[in-house]
Amino acid sequence: MISKPRVLVSRQVFDEVIDYLAEHCEVEANQDDIPFSVEQLTQRLEGKDALMCSLTDRLDTATLQRCTRLKVISNIAVGYNNIDVAACSAQGIKVTNTPGVLDDSTADLAFALMLSTARRVTEVEALIRQGQWTGWRLQQWLGVDVHHATLGIIGMGRIGQAIARRTLGFDMNVLYHNRNRVAPEIERKLGAAHCSFEDLLKRSDFVILQVPYSSHTHHLINAKALAMMKPGAILINSTRGGVVDDAALVHALEAGVIRAAGLDVFENEPKLHPGFLKLQNVVLTPHIGSSTETTRRAMAMCAATNMIAALNGQVPPNWVNPI
Ligand code: DGY
Repeated sequence: MISKPRVLVSRQVFDEVIDYLAEHCEVEANQDDIPFSVEQLTQRLEGKDALMCSLTDRLDTATLQRCTRLKVISNIAVGYNNIDVAACSAQGIKVTNTPGVLDDSTADLAFALMLSTARRVTEVEALIRQGQWTGWRLQQWLGVDVHHATLGIIGMGRIGQAIARRTLGFDMNVLYHNRNRVAPEIERKLGAAHCSFEDLLKRSDFVILQVPYSSHTHHLINAKALAMMKPGAILINSTRGGVVDDAALVHALEAGVIRAAGLDVFENEPKLHPGFLKLQNVVLTPHIGSSTETTRRAMAMCAATNMIAALNGQVPPNWVNPI
């Protein structure tokens, strides 16, 4: 009898995902969802053919070198900066991710952050709860308009484009900066104009970051970039911590270099730069960009499908390091 491949699922997933994997594999699953330390993860990977993991699992060269049997790493995320992909390729490990299924949910959250920061939703909500609303006044808690404003999107991939589609209902002007310019018909459909990074920062009322994290995008938004933004501008980061220099952003928000920020991701999350917690002009959410029931189920199932295809010797649908 041919033995089934042995797989490790490092964090809790939906039951239907475990059931699907169990049809094809011997599954060890961490349904208690207590994150493994690097050492625990390495030990559990001994003798495993595949790993289904999340962005909280770090798979660096040293760890990978100890996983001599591993053939597949299926990340339940579109971003895969938690994995040393070059080291995987060198070891013949296939890496997969979950693009596409989360574009709209992530774009929705970026929009939610933009609207909440512009209209000070969480700031005033806290004041109401503290009993500090004594009545309507004309000049009370004035925000800024999202409609007809200029939005700069840095990173015009699938999620960037989903954000741009949403601006059409708000009559916004859209600028974007991307390594490669998108096709003219997409620009036309989205009403989006390509410009340089510097130009985008100088002209935008809102800036949304949608680039993946890498050594090239590390601290893309630093003190110098923040100083280029309009004093009334609002920065939204719903992509990855580390794309923004959090210390520089705290300083910029304190000093009024920019008006406000909406942040779903942070350097060193779940730890936050303590400065953010003292500021009124920042809306904070805990990396929930893709977190809707439908989308998270779709991401986990997409990761399972990738894994089984790769284990069966097929080309996995979302293979990030064809080798
Ligand atoms: C992703 O898919 O990269 C998201 O950040 C996970 O929620």
